[in-house]
Amino acid sequence: MSNENIITVGDLEFPPRKVWLKTYGCQMNYHDTERILSHLGSLNFTLAEEQHDADLVIFNTCAVRDLANQKFYSHLGEAKHLKERTDIDPQTGLKKNVIVAAGGCIAQTEGKELVAKYKQLDFAFGTDVIDNIGEMVYRAYAGEKKFTVTSWDRSDNYSIETKITQGTPQAFVNIIKGCDKFCSYCIVPFTRGREKSRRLDEIVKDVSRLVEYSGIQEVTLLGQNVNSFGKDHGESLAQLITELDKINGLELIRYTTSHPYDVSDELVDVHRTAKKLANHLHLPVQSGSNTVLQRMLREYTIEHYLGLLAKMRKANPNMIISSDIIAGFPNETEEEHQETLKLLELAQFDFIFSYSYSSRKGTKAARMDDVLTEDIRGRRLREIQAKQLGIQEKIRQEMVGKTYRVLVEEKGLNKGVTKWTGRTSCSRIVHFEPETPESNYQWHWVDVEIISVTALSTQGRLVKDYGKKL
Ligand code: SAH
Ligand code: SF4
Ligand code: F3S
Repeated sequence: MSNENIITVGDLEFPPRKVWLKTYGCQMNYHDTERILSHLGSLNFTLAEEQHDADLVIFNTCAVRDLANQKFYSHLGEAKHLKERTDIDPQTGLKKNVIVAAGGCIAQTEGKELVAKYKQLDFAFGTDVIDNIGEMVYRAYAGEKKFTVTSWDRSDNYSIETKITQGTPQAFVNIIKGCDKFCSYCIVPFTRGREKSRRLDEIVKDVSRLVEYSGIQEVTLLGQNVNSFGKDHGESLAQLITELDKINGLELIRYTTSHPYDVSDELVDVHRTAKKLANHLHLPVQSGSNTVLQRMLREYTIEHYLGLLAKMRKANPNMIISSDIIAGFPNETEEEHQETLKLLELAQFDFIFSYSYSSRKGTKAARMDDVLTEDIRGRRLREIQAKQLGIQEKIRQEMVGKTYRVLVEEKGLNKGVTKWTGRTSCSRIVHFEPETPESNYQWHWVDVEIISVTALSTQGRLVKDYGKKL
């Protein structure tokens, strides 16, 4: 190998290497993975398609429900064989030495224990040290073994630059990190720390740069509770969206996730005035029962929540609303569960993410006595999902005959027929057939007329192809 391919950092030489990343959890975690990959580029790493090809394996973990934890532990168990490889590394001529690391929400709270318990794990790192990943990988290649980095950033100023690696016109942009809400069931405030917002000016500059130099046309503003954005600085999400709306070349603005308590009238109004703001709001309600909401420490009532939906739909009549629901919160009665089913009728969500309650160590709900069994939770979850499917099939019938603007993402095979797929401003996935088998619509803006829908799939017909710029 020629020396030109080697990057020298400090005392170490970094030949071209491959990193394999496995992400669990929410969009914040997926974006952190993108940041990690971007930083590792400076140490000569590129993405491995297969774990087998990797020199470095990183698990970006999620702790929100037991299922996410179990998946990680099982994958980490399988990674044991990576440390036992005997094949020769063509880069070094020595036995292949794979480094294994775990980051993210489990590693934030249990990093030390993980490193001590799992022989195959070289190091662990938390959610607040993503931008130090280069340093940690350097330490691992310098021979340091079994370390954990999980410190919180104590400064008031949360300042970063967005990193993108996908080469697509879509970017995730962190605007606030952490969560101060402490809903009684939720582990996130413990794994992501206290709320901290970036400054509005910095974000506007960041997004302008992405639009001007990286061809970004759609941004998703990210945070566990984006509605708290800017509180400490006298700034707000509504102000931020108003400013971003002015950026030439930016076409679509999304944001996630919202907490109903913090949705201001100013934000509702921005859904009327901002032209680029998506016709979609994800507003997790969690339960349809006021008594359960109280035990969840959600700080709003169902009446308040339904009032918000009405205001949003008035501000933007094309607004589509989705939500999260937890089935079987501790001691939820049959009556309380029925109230959730009733709420689904009243709210008319376009889709929901629904989960069976999962007890998380350290949370308030985990300390409540709980009479519910997993069977009851499972049954309630199935009832919620069945009810919602019926509702959304009906709602989506209204799309037939209407035309939607779509940013096309990819092509795939749908029952043996090639179809292109994209998402509407209101977040519905739409499939359509190409004009000719060779037609390529990737990252084109197109208008699609909807011809048929079911609860889970929407088929359309291409009406107009604008190409890559509107
Ligand atoms: N910050 C966001 C999302 C946090 S986690 C919000 O407040 O809406 C995403 C979803 O996971 C939550 O909305 C909730 O529905 C679900 N969730 C969180 N903790 C859970 C638990 N212990 N058991 C089951 N579902 C949970
Ligand atoms: Fe968890 Fe509640 Fe914070 Fe969302 S708002 S991350 S559910 S504590
Ligand atoms: Fe999971 Fe952490 Fe996100 S717990 S949902 S990865 S904030």
